[in-house]
Amino acid sequence: MASRKDKPTVLVTEECYRRGKEVYDSVKDFEIVTSASNEAILAAKAKDKNAFAVILGPDTYSGPLYEEMNKGGVIARFGVGYDGINFQKAENRGLLVTNTPGVLETTVAELTVFLAGEILRGVGEASKELKNGIWNPVPGRELQGKTWAILGLGKIGKKVSNILSFGFGVTVYALKKNTSNSEKIKRQHGVEKLSSDYAEIAPHADIVSLHLPANENTHRFMNRSRLERLKSGAILINTARGALVDENALYDLLKDRHLSGAGLDVFGNEPYQPIDVNKDLRKLPGVVLTPHIGSNAKECSRRMTERVLQNIRFALEENYEQMDLVTV
Ligand code: 8YV
Repeated sequence: MASRKDKPTVLVTEECYRRGKEVYDSVKDFEIVTSASNEAILAAKAKDKNAFAVILGPDTYSGPLYEEMNKGGVIARFGVGYDGINFQKAENRGLLVTNTPGVLETTVAELTVFLAGEILRGVGEASKELKNGIWNPVPGRELQGKTWAILGLGKIGKKVSNILSFGFGVTVYALKKNTSNSEKIKRQHGVEKLSSDYAEIAPHADIVSLHLPANENTHRFMNRSRLERLKSGAILINTARGALVDENALYDLLKDRHLSGAGLDVFGNEPYQPIDVNKDLRKLPGVVLTPHIGSNAKECSRRMTERVLQNIRFALEENYEQMDLVTV
């Protein structure tokens, strides 16, 4: 049996470690080393510990980390979004990049729907008031019968559609770049209307949710003009990436009540800081904000941790076929 020091070192950010502590603590085949998520610190540790793999959260890594890893090593994203990874640098260094699809979609989809529910019924606000001795039954709105536009019908968007359409009787419209096979997709996921044209989908919806990847084509996808084209009184939900939304424009449209609410789990700055100090989304009514917790449910964190480690094991076995390899 290999001695402890022969085990490959897997470096994991403290945030990722916290979410999978039980799993990491029972791992026998790797030396698990934790690190602050700051890139300079991670890079220094990767070098010092001769790390084979590094497990990363959604932050952006574009600097020295890659150079400090050994060829054939793994940049393992704990999550599905890979906008924080510099693929050119990873490739230059001969590093493999993985993510964790297939284990978190339902969890993120659930939060998407919960955020809308929170806005429609004001549960948090009502509970806060009641605890403060205020009995104030404010009327809410139903979800059933509403039209909801899903922008980005990938794995998470499809889960959202299933929940809404089959569970809540919501009319789902979906924006999808490639609309081939559309009849089958519509049937399977209860989508009423599928289109690649924003104008055909979003402006007709009471609620709009974002499920697009963040990249140069989707940067500020919800810009002022697209936000303005939403139906008056619409609600925007974002559990994808902050970079998709022009937060200043969103602030303005919420402030003048063109939009009646927003549920945001992701932001341009994380932890949240307003892009413009005079346009602080925390100060607006009808806005529900959560600290990037889309996949942060215990059951999901465990599955993601098992998956992220499994990918590293596959890399060691050179079993590339079974890895969740990401290439761009
Ligand atoms: C998020 C994520 O929690 O997988 C990712 O890359 O960021 C998710 O786990 C979610 O998308 C934000 O609500």
